[in-house]
This record gives sequence, C-alpha cells and structure tokens, in this order.
Amino acid sequence: MAKRFIVIGATSGLGREMAAQLVKAGHKVGIAGRRGELLNSFVEEYKDLCAEPIEWQEMDVTSPSATAALDELIERMGGMDVLLHVAGAGFENPALEEGKERHITEVNSVGFVTIINHAYHWFRTHGGKGHIAAVTSIAGTKGMGLAPSYSATKRLQTTYLSALAQHARMDGVRLHITDIRPGYAQTSILTPGKKYPAVLSPKKVARHAIRAIDHRRRICTIDWRFRLLVAGWSLIPRPLWERITFVK
Ligand SMILES: NC(=O)c1ccc[n+]([C@@H]2O[C@H](COP(=O)([O-])OP(=O)(O)OC[C@H]3O[C@@H](n4cnc5c(N)ncnc54)[C@H](OP(=O)(O)O)[C@@H]3O)[C@@H](O)[C@H]2O)c1
Repeated sequence: MAKRFIVIGATSGLGREMAAQLVKAGHKVGIAGRRGELLNSFVEEYKDLCAEPIEWQEMDVTSPSATAALDELIERMGGMDVLLHVAGAGFENPALEEGKERHITEVNSVGFVTIINHAYHWFRTHGGKGHIAAVTSIAGTKGMGLAPSYSATKRLQTTYLSALAQHARMDGVRLHITDIRPGYAQTSILTPGKKYPAVLSPKKVARHAIRAIDHRRRICTIDWRFRLLVAGWSLIPRPLWERITFVK
C-alpha cells in the first residue's frame, strides 16, 4: 500500500538512495535537507516516476526553524505516515578537533531529538498512530576512540528511540519505531582514501532498511557481517575494549 514518507537528510548518500527506492516503490515522498539544489535535482530526476509531486523543503535540523519547516512539509504532503530520519554528521575525528566534536553532537543529538520529538507529537495529535524510523549506526553500540562524539551521539539516538517506544505505550499511541543500524556504507561520511572492511553499497542499505520499515521491525542491523561484528564486540569486557588501539 502506498504511504506518505518524509525523508530528512535526502540530499545525498543513504537518505537520497532510500528516497529514490521509496519513489520507485510507488510511495508519496517528501524530502528535506540543507542543500536546496540537491533536493531540486532529486525532484527533476524522479518526478516522472511519481503519480503525485515530490515535495521538498530546505531544512537545517539544528535550526530553531526546523520544526516549522517540518510542519510545512507535512502540510504540503497532506499528512505523513512514516517519518524517516537519515540526517547525520560524522565520522572520524582522530585529532579530537573541538569544532568537529561540537558539530557532530549538535546535528546528531539536538537535531535528531528535535525532529523525532516533533514527529512523535504530530502522530499523537493526528490519529494516534504512525511510524518513526531512523538511521542510527552500529557505532552506537561501543565507544569508538576514533569517533567519540559520533559513537556517543549514535548511542543517544538508539536510547532515545527505545525510550520513545516505551513512552508511546504509556501514551496509548500506536507508534511503530524502527532503528536502522548500518555498518560501513560507501558515502561521503567515510574518510576518503581510507580502507574499511565489508563496505556496503547505499543501494543495499536502502533495500534492507525499507524492508525493515515495511515489516515494522524494531531494530535492523545491516548486514549479517556487521550483526556478527556487533555480537562479537559486545562480548569484549570494557577494560579490554579500552586497550584496543585502532590505526588513526
Ligand atoms: N555511511 C556510513 O558508513 C554510515 C554507517 C552507519 C550510519 N550512517 C548514518 O547514515 C546517515 C546518512 O549518512 P550518509 O552516510 O548517507 O552521509 P551523507 O551523504 O553525508 O548524508 C548526510 C545527510 O544528512 C544531511 N544533514 C547533515 N547535516 C544536516 C543538518 N544540519 N540538517 C539537515 N540535514 C543534514 C545531509 O544533507 P545536507 O548536507 O544537504 O543538509 C545529507 O543528506 C547518517 O545519520 C549517518 O550517521 C552512515
């Protein structure tokens, strides 16, 4: 059944690919991000595949105007069935530059909570049902020495989604929550020139993520190799984990 999806962070990488696959699957899609020219180019590329117009909205999730921008997009979409939050900043910060740490923290914490919280209230006041899905990361399962604010904020995101799932029950809201946790995927978030293991294509991540949303899965780690990795490193005791050194 066709649904109305709003994808936050659809200008590039995983969000753009997810929005494209949703359009191809026949859903009505609204897209958001800071770079208006890329939102526009998405519409130009995919408009002929849609029976209904693709709506777009420039939005900085860290700006005080983010919630008004989201409301405007929802209004133009004629409502919303699924809020898919993909926007995020990262990745590695081996020199622990303060500005970078603060920026990542702001986008992945303040921006994330602002959008997810606003979507929750919207669903609660518009029929009491809906679906919030977000791309977090396997990085949220451990403190990563090369990416402290990234791994810490991804942990915040997964915890926030879990808390919201409980809160929805307390409120009697029929809200589905899907936490999508990819491993390394080939996007601009990876450090250029650096070799990463088992890198996933954005197409594959998007396919798995959309299937997880369709099946209303609560948590989806992509793919099986990263599920094994997470299972393995969750067994490592903290004192040992903190002694492991990674190449900067
Ligand atoms: N690639 C990976 O290996 C990997 C692995 C696990 C999880 N993830 C997560 O996947 C998500 C997407 O990342 P990606 O890999 O696809 O990288 P990407 O191509 O850099 O995409 C990041 C997206 O977030 C948006 N964004 C960033 N800051 C924003 C802000 N202040 N307001 C609104 N939108 C903002 C960007 O749009 P604008 O710049 O136009 O605003 C862009 O659309 C992130 O949450 C990331 O943590 C990635």
